[in-house]
Amino acid sequence: MNKSTQHWKLSTHISEYDEAIVEAAELLKQQQVVAFPTETVYGLGGDATSATAVQRIFDAKGRPADNPLIVHVADQSHVEELVTEIPPIARKLIEQFWPGPLTLILPSNGTAAENVTAGLSTIAIRMPDHPVALSILKAAGKPLAAPSANRSGRPSPTEAVHVAQDLDGRIAGIVDGGPTGVGVESTVLDCTARIPIILRPGGVTKEDLQPLIPEVIVDPALAAQGSKPKSPGMKYAHYAPEAPLWLVDGDVSFFQDQINQLQAVDKRVGVMASHELADALDHSRTLRCGSRNNLAEVAGNLYGALRQFKKADVDVILCEAFPDHGVGAAVMNRLSKAAVQKVIQ
Ligand code: TXA
Ligand code: MG
Repeated sequence: MNKSTQHWKLSTHISEYDEAIVEAAELLKQQQVVAFPTETVYGLGGDATSATAVQRIFDAKGRPADNPLIVHVADQSHVEELVTEIPPIARKLIEQFWPGPLTLILPSNGTAAENVTAGLSTIAIRMPDHPVALSILKAAGKPLAAPSANRSGRPSPTEAVHVAQDLDGRIAGIVDGGPTGVGVESTVLDCTARIPIILRPGGVTKEDLQPLIPEVIVDPALAAQGSKPKSPGMKYAHYAPEAPLWLVDGDVSFFQDQINQLQAVDKRVGVMASHELADALDHSRTLRCGSRNNLAEVAGNLYGALRQFKKADVDVILCEAFPDHGVGAAVMNRLSKAAVQKVIQ
């Protein structure tokens, strides 16, 4: 474990020759782990070809060993080095969506360290669309394994300060490149099946994929209680705020009733809602996460809002259920996992 974590703050113009980038890359070459921003959430990077570096990622996060990591590349040629083949549909997806929030599951050729893939025969790969992530990848000259840079089970970090809350003292460095944009993680797409399957909804939506893959489906196990998802990570409890979260699916008066009933038994209620619902409710402890008509804005604010509710202030969080289309599918997937109880009208 690292006693002290080095912090760098970057301004807007970034290149692989910036001092912070060079220093971060140097630590990565020494098999240390460093957090940096991507366009989705902050990642905790380590050399994907080094079992030592990868083990440090699992240790820092407290991540179960059977949950494989996503490997990040800055160059398409690095993909060829990690897989046995790139199916034609994967090539088309790469051309259209990279760099961007789409992770492809491909057949591994065993070049990555064994603990990256948690013993699976497949490997998850993506090219992030963020100048800091790309500069670090280029400067390190290696593919980097990078899960979200949170302690396992906590909401993913969308700002450097979230990373520090969870991992200060446990990792070699944090590169602060400002808040991330998309706010939810990449879409994980299994390209080893004849028809690709969405294993985790994310920044690239089903609707975005449909023109290329009209038959694309979301892994049915994600919606079904008790069945085993194809993506190991999706079986774990996740994204939990400090207080229990209930997902409320109903109109304004139903939502207000839930608040009133809890307050009647002396519960301190936090509410997480769209501007539209927040305006209609009579409740002071409400955090807004954007407009119901702008789900990208809701996604961008989601994890930051979950982190803001503190045990000391609220006993329970009531959260609005959002529409399930577009990036709303990723928002609802994360909220369902964060929720301990679902209240349906
Ligand atoms: O946006 C993102 O994807 C962020 C940024 C940092 O790039 N990373 C991220 O990594 O979300 P992580 O480790 O938090 O989530 C990786 C997900 C897990 O659900 C894991 O089970 C799944 O990808 N995964 C990794 N390798 C897989 C494989 N070979 N087959 C199926 N699922 C896999
Ligand atoms: Mg994660």
